[in-house]
Amino acid sequence: MDIVVSGIRSTGNLHLGNYFGALRNFIRMQDENKCFFFIADIHSLTTHPDPKSLHANVKNVLVDYLAAGIDPEKSIIYLQSDIPEIAELYLYLNMHAYLGELAKTTSFKEKARKQPDNINAGLLTYPTLMAADIIIHHADKVPVGKDQEQHLEMTRRFARRFNNFYGVEYFKEPVAYNFGQELIKIPGLDGSGKMGKSEGNAIYLSDAPEEIEKKVKRAITDSGPKEFNSPKPDYIENLFTIMKAVSEPEVVQHYEELWNKCEIRYSDMKKQLAEDIIKVTSPIRERILEIEKDDAYLHKVTTEGAEKARESASKTLKEVRQIMGFRPF
Ligand code: TRP
Repeated sequence: MDIVVSGIRSTGNLHLGNYFGALRNFIRMQDENKCFFFIADIHSLTTHPDPKSLHANVKNVLVDYLAAGIDPEKSIIYLQSDIPEIAELYLYLNMHAYLGELAKTTSFKEKARKQPDNINAGLLTYPTLMAADIIIHHADKVPVGKDQEQHLEMTRRFARRFNNFYGVEYFKEPVAYNFGQELIKIPGLDGSGKMGKSEGNAIYLSDAPEEIEKKVKRAITDSGPKEFNSPKPDYIENLFTIMKAVSEPEVVQHYEELWNKCEIRYSDMKKQLAEDIIKVTSPIRERILEIEKDDAYLHKVTTEGAEKARESASKTLKEVRQIMGFRPF
């Protein structure tokens, strides 16, 4: 059984794009691997959130993941900030992380450009903290998107460097968990390529059915095709792409045919699309509404998760301290 570690950003609720992107694969992964899922709440401090919203964000994300099917019976679910060993390993790894390599990381340069008044050391050492998250459990695999590949590459480099420096074969070099064909990219409803929070075009798993209907109704369309079998403009293609993810194949085919015959009525298609999106999201939404008021459950999940994660993490730290020369008298 492989060990998988996955960090979850504590910003923003889950939307349809997340669901058909990584999340469904996270849920499947749990059966074949030993999975550690944690909310990267320490990482979120780089942008200086106020304490109230930090807590609220962590809760939202936790609730969404649990509701969608991340299962505490199968996986270890915890908050990064509940595991002091991660911060300790981060400190040690930083002694072997160099200013030059950290400063030229793409994500650092981007964030430094976006928040020039707050280029803090946490931002610079973001990759070291992420490496600590991963190697503390000796992960074999890390499910990451394209934007995180460089961080994973640095994780491998830090692990290798530690091993070389101390002359040990201790840390593993984790590889990216590749979902291959399974990743479905969900576009926005506004004609843009990607559904996202920052794009302001997302349908959230927690959206009420009326909200979803409203959002789908607002999607950009036009006066319809003028010629048989004409190519679709991007904003129409996007509606079909979402439909392929949520609807039955016959339904998609039906609307493809109507399009090709220039008989498509967007209002019908949107009605169907909204209905099928709601079919996917409403069971999750119902669990969200249940779990979010169940503080006892959230407490239980996070304490038990932290306990199991600390078991693994404290074993690593004991060995790391020994390797580095912190030895008891
Ligand atoms: N950097 C990741 C992101 O922005 C989140 C993250 C933090 C992470 N630590 C991790 C992901 C460890 C995987 C493993 O999405």
